This record gives sequence, structure tokens and C-alpha cells, in this order.
Amino acid sequence: MDHFHYTGHVLYCEGVPVAELAESYGTPLFVYSKKTLLHHLHQLQRAFAPAEPLICYSIKTNPNLAICRLMRENGTGFDVTSGGELFRALQAGGNPERIVFAGVGKTDREITEALDVDILMFNVESEGELAVLRDLSEQRRQQVRLAFRVNPDVDPKTHTKTATGKRGTKFGLDWERVEKLANTVLGHPYLKLTGIHMHLGSPIYSTEPYRTALERAVPLIEALREQGHDLHYLNMGGGFGIHYRKQEGLPADAFAEVILPAVEYTRCQLLLEPGRFIVGNAGILVSRVLFVKDAGGKRFVIQDAAMNDLIRPTLYDAFHRIWPVEPPSEVPAPPEDYESPIPHTRLVDIVGPVCESGDFLARDRWFPEVKRGDLLAIFSAGAYGMAMSSNYNGRCRAAEVLVDGDKHRLIRRRETYHDLIRPELEV
Ligand SMILES: Cc1ncc(COP(=O)(O)O)c(C=O)c1O
Repeated sequence: MDHFHYTGHVLYCEGVPVAELAESYGTPLFVYSKKTLLHHLHQLQRAFAPAEPLICYSIKTNPNLAICRLMRENGTGFDVTSGGELFRALQAGGNPERIVFAGVGKTDREITEALDVDILMFNVESEGELAVLRDLSEQRRQQVRLAFRVNPDVDPKTHTKTATGKRGTKFGLDWERVEKLANTVLGHPYLKLTGIHMHLGSPIYSTEPYRTALERAVPLIEALREQGHDLHYLNMGGGFGIHYRKQEGLPADAFAEVILPAVEYTRCQLLLEPGRFIVGNAGILVSRVLFVKDAGGKRFVIQDAAMNDLIRPTLYDAFHRIWPVEPPSEVPAPPEDYESPIPHTRLVDIVGPVCESGDFLARDRWFPEVKRGDLLAIFSAGAYGMAMSSNYNGRCRAAEVLVDGDKHRLIRRRETYHDLIRPELEV
């Protein structure tokens, strides 16, 4: 359930007409719904409650400080993948005891920064990283908690660019090699192997990959305990899919049903690193039509949001629902799959101003007649939207607004031209 709804052919975010937000803050504009963010977080918290999990919000999904703070205030820790994300987590008031650090290429500086604040654990992804952690822990005479990120060689059946738990990707340690590697830290005065971490990919629309991965992880946990490790964390990462097109996402309960028995059996503390499940459908991108152009037998709706604001369609062939903020009254609501013709619509490509043929938000989409100045809503843009945005083509990043009931506030101002050149002026 999310709190973006059409009432009388007007799109609202909670109690606020989206057109009002576009007027106040301009476009392109990311609009987030606080109720939706919390609703999705609470769904996970409820589904996994029997295990009392530590939910570490995955900052990479949407790093805005206001959203990170909201997550922390509602009980989450943080999953970070860089020094910059660790900085954000701390700026958002994150408690280092609830921060985990993944990533295949942690630099010495980043590791040191995480050691300085003594985070809960490092998700170790290679022998090389383990060697650096060993050296640093000895130099600093500091206890360091580790989880081995295991690559369980499971096909998450998602886009190849976001499948991480499959052999042949750069992520994690081959699971057959984990025991041997674990042996090298046994009895180490500072390094403590405390957990197993797996993140299979994202978004995942079946519980099967989690089930298969756990079939590998559970015996591994037992073997590591037999080796003498005090293993008590099982980190299942994130990856829970959401509704982009129709109701294709599974409820949190479905994932809990598969994961909880393994947690109970192993008596581990469960960690989760969800991102998309929480923020994906809690955000939309609002744009304004600049031109409508017919060319080469096609119609192009050119609007002011582009691949630099939301790169998912061009990077992952991702589907985002798009609809006018105030659709013509004769046009019915679009069917869920958007694939069959809709009365009073025609096929269009919805594109942005960036100088790339790959700059599109939708292709061959049934869409009502729109004109210059009309507002469009690009749905499910809360995750990996602003987070992956850039200044390509000299474009200023969009503003972000958080709606709470009938109130709203700017949580990131629109960038200015000066922001584009500031780092160059400072050298
Ligand atoms: C290690 C790790 N944990 C968690 C996540 C969050 O995934 P999602 O947003 O699908 O929940 C990612 C995303 O790529 C990840 O790489």
C-alpha cells in the first residue's frame, strides 16, 4: 500500500495535491511519502518480529539524510558500502553498534574510518580485505567483528547487472572456500568471525533464492561453529522486490516464512539490509512536459526529467509506471500491465532532454494526450532514483520533498549552476 492516489483525476501524495508541490518546488522533483516509508518499514518489522531482527537500512538506495534519520528514529541501523555512506549514517545519528559495512573494494581509509567508530561488523568480501583487516586490527590492538560475505551461487532471477549472489560476479567469497579462510582467523587475538552475510541480488520476486541460499548457509554456520567460531549473526542482505508494474512484489511475510526457520534453527541474530522494499514505492518523480514531438512515425513526449535523474530505465530496462498528475477526465485509469491499449491514448516514448538515445523513461507506452506544461508522475522512483542521479549534460540534481499528511518540507534543495562548478573553483 502506498499513499499516492488519484482523487477526482488529481494525484495526491498523502493529503497534498502533487501539482501544488510542483508549483512550490519546481520540477523535476522527487516527492516522498512519510506514511508510505513507515508503512513498508513496519511491514518488515512485523513480519520478522519473532526473530527480533536488526534491520540495517541500505543507505545506497536513498541516502537523503531526512530519510536516514526517519529510519533511525523508527528503529533501524544502517548498511553502508563506502566511507561516504558511513559518514551519512553517522550524520543521521546512526549508532556505530548498528552499522554494517559491505563492499568489494573498501579502501584502507574507509576501513580505518569504520574502525575509528567501531562499527558492528565488516562484511568481508575477499582474502585481500581480510589481510588488511588483520594488519589494522593488530596495529591498533582493536577487536574487529567480521561476517564473511558468502557468494552462495544462487540465481536470483533478476537483471544481470543486479544479480550478486551468483558465481562469476565480483561479490563475496566462494562458499566452498569459506571454511578454509575461517580457519586462518581462528584464535586470532583481534579478529572475530561472528557472522555470515549474503545479499543475493535485487529486486527478487521469489522466495526460492533465499531458500536455496539458506540450504547452503545453515550447514556452513554449523561447520564454522564446529571449527570453534562463536558465530551468532546471519545477515540475509536485502533484495525484496516491489510492485513496479502491477502487484508483482511478495509480501514481507513470504520472505519471513522462508528465513525465520533458519534463524530459529541456527539460533542466530538476524540482520537484514532492505532498501528498495522500504523506499521504492514511497517516492515519485514529478516532471513537466516541455514539448510533444512527432518524428520518424513516433510520438515523443519530451519532459524535464531525464536519465540523470532516474537512470533505471536505461541502465536496467526497468519499467516505471508513468501517468499525468491530472489526467484528462475521459481517460480511464491505466490497466495494471500497461500493455493493452487504453481508450483515448496512443503509443508514445517518454524521453528527457539529455543528449543520448538512451535517455528515455518509457518506450511505446499507451499514454493520454498531453501538452506543454502538463505534469507527469513517474512512480516507484524512491529507490535508486536520486541515489544514482548525476550532473550529466550540466543538469542540476532535482529537489526532494517529504510529505507528512497535509504538510511538506524540502529535504534537499535543487542544485544551482554554481553547485556544478564549486569543486573546480575550490582547487
Ligand atoms: C550488500 C547489499 N545489501 C543490501 C542492498 C539493498 O538491496 P535492496 O534495495 O534490494 O533491498 C544492496 C543493494 O544492492 C546490497 O548490495
